[in-house]
Amino acid sequence: MSTPNIKPEPEIEVRKGLAGVIADYTAISKVVPETNSLTYRGYPVQELARYCCFEEVAYLLWNKELPTSSELRRFSIREKALRHIDRHLIDLINAMPMTCHPMDVLRTAVSYIGSLDPEAYTKDSDHIRRTSLELMAKLPTVVAYDIRRRKGLDYREPSTTKSFSENFLYMVFGDDEGSPANDRADVEAFDKSLILYAEHSFNASTFTARVITSTMSDTYSAVVGAIGALKGPLHGGANEAVMHNMLEIDDPAKAEQWVMDKLSNKELVMGFGHRVYKQGDSRVPTMEAAFKELGLKHGGTKWVEMYDIMAKTMYENTSIKIRPNLDFPSGPAYHLLGFDVEFFTPIFVMARITGWTAHIIEQNESNSLIRPLSAYNGEPQRSVPTSSNE
Ligand code: COA
Repeated sequence: MSTPNIKPEPEIEVRKGLAGVIADYTAISKVVPETNSLTYRGYPVQELARYCCFEEVAYLLWNKELPTSSELRRFSIREKALRHIDRHLIDLINAMPMTCHPMDVLRTAVSYIGSLDPEAYTKDSDHIRRTSLELMAKLPTVVAYDIRRRKGLDYREPSTTKSFSENFLYMVFGDDEGSPANDRADVEAFDKSLILYAEHSFNASTFTARVITSTMSDTYSAVVGAIGALKGPLHGGANEAVMHNMLEIDDPAKAEQWVMDKLSNKELVMGFGHRVYKQGDSRVPTMEAAFKELGLKHGGTKWVEMYDIMAKTMYENTSIKIRPNLDFPSGPAYHLLGFDVEFFTPIFVMARITGWTAHIIEQNESNSLIRPLSAYNGEPQRSVPTSSNE
């Protein structure tokens, strides 16, 4: 009997998690792990955090250039005018259980806002820029109201004069003495965190937005998908996990042992490591400085001490010297500003909406359906059992 001539499968390289795969070009941001640098439209993020406000960075991401002072003035006037949310959206938020994650509220709010746009499917970049500005303006109002209703507080109308960050802090905490909205250093620390969170090339949520956009779906659907991706603890949810861990450790004297126990149990320590940066996250030094200042100012030296011990323990006890990522300083920074932990990722959304939508515009302008291949490793082809072949 002759044996069938079965050809061996050619060697297939599967890049699990798409690690190292270059999926497309982008002119929005560049991550250079070797030099520990991140640029938005060519500008180092550290310089943007130092010299610009979040509104200027949003303008830059969408329009490719920083605004002139009159362009910024017009842009800010338009943003302020779009902050209000309607009664139906407030009722919709009220209908959602207090027990659900605030990211669920945000995801639902974006779906609702999208349902009101009769031109949601348009691929016109100017329309998408307008949509993006509307989402940037309204999402803080949604988040602020969700924070307030969970504390039994009423909806607070957004300000039509305050800056983006100041307005958000005002909507959440009011403007009495002691509110971070009244404190220049607190507003600046918060604004810096938004600039650092705004954009980061083809991360999981941005790539999700690009995949959805590539099917010619609408901007709101792409943003809803991106919110779902960001919610995961390996991505945006890490800043929440960081603070939960710090609250669990509670005492800096216990921090080293806590990290060592995690490492010996082969568990992840949230807020450390990065898919792209292996020599340290370029955004960390700026956020770390802002966090440490907040720590000194708000009586939070305990968190600063714990931060340093955990970072040192991770660095010294991992073979690849794992360093903190942006979520490690931003988690405790948001805690010091007075935010509840489950709202850290929604705050991340308020910033990243600018990067996502810049990518949605870019994907639309040079679209190709994103559809990778898979290597099959299941059962070989076989026949369904029937009475005739049993
Ligand atoms: N805690 C403990 N060990 C970690 C770690 C962490 N935070 N990050 C990476 N490692 C370990 C990995 O488990 C792996 O160990 P192994 O070789 O024994 O399997 C090794 O270090 C190398 O990991 P690496 O290839 O660098 O990680 P990755 O690119 O697959 O994953 C992350 C990157 C971000 C998903 C990963 O670092 C992580 O899960 N971090 C915690 C979550 C987090 O902070 N996410 C926010 C990212 S901005």
